[in-house]
Amino acid sequence: MRFFFAMAVLLLAAAATTRVCQGYNITQILEKHPQFSTFNHYLSVTHLAEEINRRRTITVLAVDNAAMGPLLAKHPTIFTIKNVLSFHILADYFGSRRLHEITHRSALVASLFQATGAAPGTTGFVNITNVRGGHVAFGAEDNGGVLNARFVKAIKQLSYRISVVQISSLLHSPEAEAPAPAPAEYNITILMTKKGCKVFANLASNTGDVEKTFESYMDSGFTLFCPIDQAMNKFMPKYHKLTAAAKSSLLLYHGLSEYNSMQMLKTTSGKVGTLATIGKTKNYNFTFQDTGELVTIDTRINKVKVSGTVIDEQPLAIYTIDKVLEPNELFKVPEIAPAPKASTVLDSTSSDDEPSSDEEDDSDTDTTGASSALFAGGRWIIAVLVTSSVLAGFVGF
Ligand SMILES: *[C@@H]1O[C@H](CO)[C@@H](O)[C@H](O)[C@H]1NC(C)=O
Ligand SMILES: *[C@@H]1O[C@H](CO)[C@@H](O)[C@H](O)[C@H]1NC(C)=O
Ligand SMILES: *[C@@H]1O[C@H](CO)[C@@H](O)[C@H](O)[C@H]1NC(C)=O
Ligand SMILES: *[C@@H]1O[C@H](CO)[C@@H](O)[C@H](O)[C@H]1NC(C)=O
Repeated sequence: MRFFFAMAVLLLAAAATTRVCQGYNITQILEKHPQFSTFNHYLSVTHLAEEINRRRTITVLAVDNAAMGPLLAKHPTIFTIKNVLSFHILADYFGSRRLHEITHRSALVASLFQATGAAPGTTGFVNITNVRGGHVAFGAEDNGGVLNARFVKAIKQLSYRISVVQISSLLHSPEAEAPAPAPAEYNITILMTKKGCKVFANLASNTGDVEKTFESYMDSGFTLFCPIDQAMNKFMPKYHKLTAAAKSSLLLYHGLSEYNSMQMLKTTSGKVGTLATIGKTKNYNFTFQDTGELVTIDTRINKVKVSGTVIDEQPLAIYTIDKVLEPNELFKVPEIAPAPKASTVLDSTSSDDEPSSDEEDDSDTDTTGASSALFAGGRWIIAVLVTSSVLAGFVGF
């Protein structure tokens, strides 16, 4: 069983390393080609560069400095530039060869603009078509059927990870070019209310300085997780029992003082401090769990899933969550001797009094002989489950 445990750890460690290290840096790739310096500059300023570096398979349709001119001549806000450029980042790998051999000669490919939630409905797709004479043409799907750009050359290709190609001009998309308001012009109460977080939005407005605190981060970087009404309603009896200060802390616990795009959340794992942490002696932080395409937050009291995007416009992001985040600081049950209950665990040989909670929280349980034996039992079980699910993953279940 030690062998299995070790193997599981090795496999998980390997998985973790491959996730974090993509091994490329779009800024450095483009830096070698001064004719793309403007495009490169705006990828950095809009933080799209970070999103590109975090992705596992990506295609960047770059344009040279001259082709950036017409967009910049309109003096767009940085938010509009971000929308336009995110249309030029495809969430799939298209090397030069694949571009020239599109199945059925034409394909619609999702761009990052589609993925950010900034795009209404189905806009945000790029039409790639093999046209006569072996040329490849590109157009935004919302451009009335006009494919206004052509493939020029490949700039960099790392097989099935990143492809950077030059196209002749920026894709023209009325949706992406529409003036995007600055974050401060958004009313987060109205945004949340429209997307099913009315109860949470109202509580934030009516509880101390919570709404003001949220708003104070909107220009510098802000991420908010709003529980959907159904979850909030279910939680209200517990909420009403909290003191006024605890109510504030609970609401602030749902906000972070930096911007996180959905792509950033998907590749983040580890502990973060929240707005409830700031200025408090208690920590009020939570953990993002590395669960692949699904973003999960673990508060130690409960595990909560990010279920949708209300808005994701750097530097402001609001996501819906399926449960209220319950901070350990407010809901940790005092440790009383657990009532013995019948063991339903695989392990039949050992104890009948399994620990009732907090298996993960080994840091602050005092390890008497009895509890470490139990913990060892728990670890054995965890190891087996992990191993079998990892193996199941390989076999393809
Ligand atoms: C990518 O390269 C740029 C320029 O060399 C550098 O400033 C940036 O920190 C790099 N990003 C990462 C994630 O290494
Ligand atoms: C792409 O655009 C061309 C030209 O408008 C059109 O004929 C083609 O059907 C489009 N392809 C897809 C997959 O929609
Ligand atoms: C946002 O909208 C609500 C409801 O219409 C309003 O009460 C509140 O003052 C607005 N907030 C800001 C900052 O404009
Ligand atoms: C968690 O909270 C504590 C405050 O008690 C703080 O010292 C620590 O840095 C926090 N962790 C993170 C990753 O923010």
